[in-house]
Amino acid sequence: MRRIAVLSMGVLACVVAGCVSGGAETDATDAAAAEAAEAATEVATVSVTSEMLRLGRTAYRKYCVQCHGYGGKGDGTSAAALDPPPRDHTNAEVMNAIPDLIIAGTIRFGGVDRGFPNMPAFPHVSHEELVALVAYVRSLSRPALASVQLGDVE
Ligand code: HEC
Repeated sequence: MRRIAVLSMGVLACVVAGCVSGGAETDATDAAAAEAAEAATEVATVSVTSEMLRLGRTAYRKYCVQCHGYGGKGDGTSAAALDPPPRDHTNAEVMNAIPDLIIAGTIRFGGVDRGFPNMPAFPHVSHEELVALVAYVRSLSRPALASVQLGDVE
């Protein structure tokens, strides 16, 4: 079991086992969505604040822009060498298909189990930063983002 604790946000924990398996991208996303829906009763809504988005932006600029680009369009300086290329976080159509918990799991554990090993794991970011990164990534395609769905999912 892989566990993401988001204690600092008052949310207990989120486990993404099952979410991080799967072959083709759509299968993984569908499985992840089903998993998230199944666990819906235990998913907690975390309000997004401007402070959280600022923290997320700082962390994103520190850890993510080399690949995903300063504006999140997947056009960072290391992007050209990557196949598949880094995800465009401003593309709402693509990003809306990915549940918040899956974004959290992908940041924490990397893309290796989901078929894109070039997305690294970030085991060292704090819980607060992880939640803020999820919120910031979301806000790139949903500027009016009010909350993210994270929770205690087993
Ligand atoms: C070394 C390059 C690199 C870095 C650094 C990087 N990523 Fe990625 N990321 C990728 C690649 C490559 C993919 C896979 C794109 C695809 O398959 O569509 C990806 C995919 C993603 C996805 C989509 C996951 C999904 O569920 O489909 C998210 C969200 C993401 N990255 C967030 C981040 C965040 C947040 C950071 C910083 C904490 C980050 N990435 C840092 C290369 C990188």
